[in-house]
Amino acid sequence: MSSKMSMKEKLFNLSVSNIVSNAVNIGNRLNLFSKLAEISSEKNPVLPEQLAEAAGCKERYVREWMNCMACGEIIEVNEEEKFWIKEENVEDLANNGFEVVSNGMIAPLLEPADDLIECFKKDGPYGLEYSQFSKFQSFMGVMSKALHEKHVIPDMIPAIGHGISEKLESGGIRVLDVGCGGGFHSSLLAERYPKSHFVGLDIGSDAIQQAKERRLKSGEPFNNLEFIQCDAGKMPEIWTDSFDLVLIFDACHDQCRPDLCIQEIHRVLKPNGVFAMVEVLGSSNVFTDKATMGPLAAMMYGCSMFHCLPVGSNCQSALCMGAMWGRKRAVELLNKCGFKEVQIVDTPFFPINLMYCSQKI
Ligand SMILES: C[S@@+](CC[C@H](N)C(=O)[O-])C[C@H]1O[C@@H](n2cnc3c(N)ncnc32)[C@H](O)[C@@H]1O
Repeated sequence: MSSKMSMKEKLFNLSVSNIVSNAVNIGNRLNLFSKLAEISSEKNPVLPEQLAEAAGCKERYVREWMNCMACGEIIEVNEEEKFWIKEENVEDLANNGFEVVSNGMIAPLLEPADDLIECFKKDGPYGLEYSQFSKFQSFMGVMSKALHEKHVIPDMIPAIGHGISEKLESGGIRVLDVGCGGGFHSSLLAERYPKSHFVGLDIGSDAIQQAKERRLKSGEPFNNLEFIQCDAGKMPEIWTDSFDLVLIFDACHDQCRPDLCIQEIHRVLKPNGVFAMVEVLGSSNVFTDKATMGPLAAMMYGCSMFHCLPVGSNCQSALCMGAMWGRKRAVELLNKCGFKEVQIVDTPFFPINLMYCSQKI
């Protein structure tokens, strides 16, 4: 956003973007972009009733949505009130990628907004429960797919090093996915590496329920994949020295006690076992983040404020990290919890992440 704009203009533009963004989310969820791309072009623009028919929706609602999208400069309109998507925009609007899916982020995060306001107050509660975000797990599944699906196997796994790709392939190794949510990553890995065994762990019953349903619905036998509901800060005693690889995908910073989780990961890894933690980009300094990450920094500090911080602050002893805890704080905590040598691996194929890798010596 141009810094020459007055504050009034900035605020007005923000409120417009907010509405248009949420309308983009509605359209994406109803597949209106992909249907419009299918049935229209600049040479063959269509009426709302045609899109409504193709998408199985009511014409009047679709017309209002198209009007908003056209005035918001997302799709095109002509004087006859016929619409199309510019050819060069089809891929971005209709591919379910991070940029379009992220327009669905704010709706599930706003659900407990009134309670969040109470958390800010000195005498208010410490934080929020995961269960106060009833649509979070399903949205996170969609988001993780958009962010990670294409790159976990070909790019991220080789980037861990330590011969992990080969070991997963040849099999017989045990892998733990901490804070697995709906099980997106564990399922992807279990399918690709059928000779290795995967355990997904999450504190949330809805997360584990969803993970188990995902496995059932997949039609795959997934004999190499199990899910367990458990606090990452207190894993089963019998797991000591039992995993070859522990992974975390965006699930350390939002724990109340990430220190206990990392100590437990150190305990359950076999000697020479490897820990790879995919976390949100960040430097641990907001000035640097603003300069280096631009608008993505605003997005991630905002998501943190709405969700990661309040769920990770929800007890007296919480470390209250927030999503933008960043490299410095993450490495300090990893060192303090037993991982003395930490490699920070850039993961440019993941738009919002980097990866911390370490071996249990
Ligand atoms: C942001 S979500 C990430 C989910 C998943 N890894 C993904 O990327 O789709 C964070 C997950 O951490 C889980 N979590 C939070 N605190 C936890 C704890 N103490 N022990 C285990 N899981 C925890 C939450 O229930 C949630 O599913």
